[in-house]
Amino acid sequence: MKKVKRILATILAATLLISAAACTVVDTKTTTAASTAAAGTDATATTAASGQSFKIGVAMPTQSSERWINDGANMKTKLEELGYTVDLQYAEDDVQAQVNQIENMITNGANCLVIAAVDSSALVNVLAKAKAANIPVIAYDRLLMDTDAVSYYATFDNYQVGVLEATYLVEALGLKDGKGPFNVELFAGSPDDNNAKLFWQGAMDTLKEYIDSGKIVVLSGQTDFDSCAILRWSQETAQQRMENILSGTYSGGTKVDAVLSPYDGLSYGIASALEGAGYKVGEGWPLITGQDAELMAIKNIISGKQAMTVFKDTRVLAEKCVSMVQAVLTGSTPEINNTTTYDNNVLVVPSYLCTPVAVTKDNYVKEVIDVGYYTADQVAG
Ligand code: BGC
Repeated sequence: MKKVKRILATILAATLLISAAACTVVDTKTTTAASTAAAGTDATATTAASGQSFKIGVAMPTQSSERWINDGANMKTKLEELGYTVDLQYAEDDVQAQVNQIENMITNGANCLVIAAVDSSALVNVLAKAKAANIPVIAYDRLLMDTDAVSYYATFDNYQVGVLEATYLVEALGLKDGKGPFNVELFAGSPDDNNAKLFWQGAMDTLKEYIDSGKIVVLSGQTDFDSCAILRWSQETAQQRMENILSGTYSGGTKVDAVLSPYDGLSYGIASALEGAGYKVGEGWPLITGQDAELMAIKNIISGKQAMTVFKDTRVLAEKCVSMVQAVLTGSTPEINNTTTYDNNVLVVPSYLCTPVAVTKDNYVKEVIDVGYYTADQVAG
């Protein structure tokens, strides 16, 4: 029996060595990331040998949006199933609160940090402390900018999210068939979230030819990211901006035909502004896009208040992220499918991009109910 154990231990040690060797990667920028991962490994390997359980700090941005509640819950469950101890914290969109939470995680001996930042560039100093303490860091959904202290990034194809939203509008408005012109207003996400820029880029690359040809008219004249961005993804700010656009530009009986919205929460605010201005669902109500497939958004899609959303299965994201946590803790290499897109100004962070899916009235049953994300009762209730 002892002999079998010794053989198993030798095989395990050899496997770890091979996986660690496999970590030596490509260009200089990704190599920095791999070394950061490896740096974290040295400290944690000792912990593993002593049989102590690993502590994982999970820092999430806010509970005001359904998706982050699901993200936190999924991560906690999956990590605990593996025997890890989880410190899950929400910063309620307060940058300093998130810095403090991460500092506490470091002080309390976290072995790995998983972070979805409130402000992608505001964590540079606290992440340097994590690096100095040999704690590997994984960026969750939102890229951590301006730092070399990040090993891996688990996210969705963010550019594709924007493409899906804009492609929906192009098809639903019949722009490819030469229909138009249509009045379309544009919204972007939070300027301190790197994802927002990619959503915008994907959407604008898709809409540009129709704006240029005059088939899409943005009557407000606001077509650049900065004018359309909504700080911290606030529903109220989106509602106010839409109210201002409606009263300032559409007062003479001209109607909005569609609104590009990059997040369900913004779509609710936009819908409230439209209701306030007298628009009615079913009577020339504009097409409104969204993102996250929140339960409310699916209900609004069924009732016709929202035209589409982009479903990002947080269960899949959590799975990918957990595999990254395991990799940095054991010195192995997680599955990565992108080593070129996510340059955080210091390094190109090795990433796994999950696939986003456009959801409309026609496919919501297949996409969100059949896969068990929501039950039919939840959606109907
Ligand atoms: C996420 C989106 C989300 C938005 C607002 C982004 O970073 O990728 O899924 O809608 O934040 O919370």
